[in-house]
Amino acid sequence: MYTPPADLVPLRTADGSFTLRSEALGEQYHSVHGAVQESRHVFLAMGLDLVKKDPVDLLEVGLGTGLNALLTWIAAEGRGGAVRYTALEPYPLSREALSRMDHPAACGDPAKGGVVLDMLTAAEGAWQRMSPHFSFRRRATSMLALEDVAAYDLVYFDAFGPNTQPELWTEEVFRRLHRAMRPGALLVTYCAKGDVRRAMQAAGLAVERLPGPPGKREMLRARK
Ligand SMILES: C[S@@+](CC[C@H](N)C(=O)[O-])C[C@H]1O[C@@H](n2cnc3c(N)ncnc32)[C@H](O)[C@@H]1O
Repeated sequence: MYTPPADLVPLRTADGSFTLRSEALGEQYHSVHGAVQESRHVFLAMGLDLVKKDPVDLLEVGLGTGLNALLTWIAAEGRGGAVRYTALEPYPLSREALSRMDHPAACGDPAKGGVVLDMLTAAEGAWQRMSPHFSFRRRATSMLALEDVAAYDLVYFDAFGPNTQPELWTEEVFRRLHRAMRPGALLVTYCAKGDVRRAMQAAGLAVERLPGPPGKREMLRARK
């Protein structure tokens, strides 16, 4: 049974950007090889960049520090189409914890500092229109209770790893995601474990192994 960690400390990763680490959990929110670098590779280059829709309805599993959301907002401004970003997060970080990493500066957009913190800590459930190209909502819904049907074009699957939260990497979870995805929708994740790939396939997804971000040989992308 997962208990959110109470001992989070900022940790500088290899590309200079910060993540949060918990000794109790034995995990951090991002790759120590480079948080921004990993997010850009796994979720943007291998995911968002391939979806040629306007708008894109995007589901993130695990909002965490909001790094993927911020990078996606910045990317949305450059792509000329809209992204509607829904992030699941039953254990939201406090404003104080979020502000200890300064993701906006690491992402090259320091001016977004305060407005990103407001966005990430706003009331659960409500849509926030951040710009003509980017809308955001956080839902407190657990992945284990997701009931959406044919609602998303792209899924960022960014749960803690299978050793920390095995309950989130099961065939049952990927069946829920398959149901939530539209035909042709993509799911990307940093994880490349064989058991995870087989659970995705058993749930009806077509899965490919792709080169991973620096420090990781492979990642997975699945298509409905
Ligand atoms: C690896 S971190 C996500 C990092 C994040 N995407 C970012 O850009 O900072 C995993 C997140 O999943 C969240 N989580 C834990 N259990 C969950 C559940 N049942 N459903 C959805 N999210 C969950 C954790 O609280 C944590 O914030």
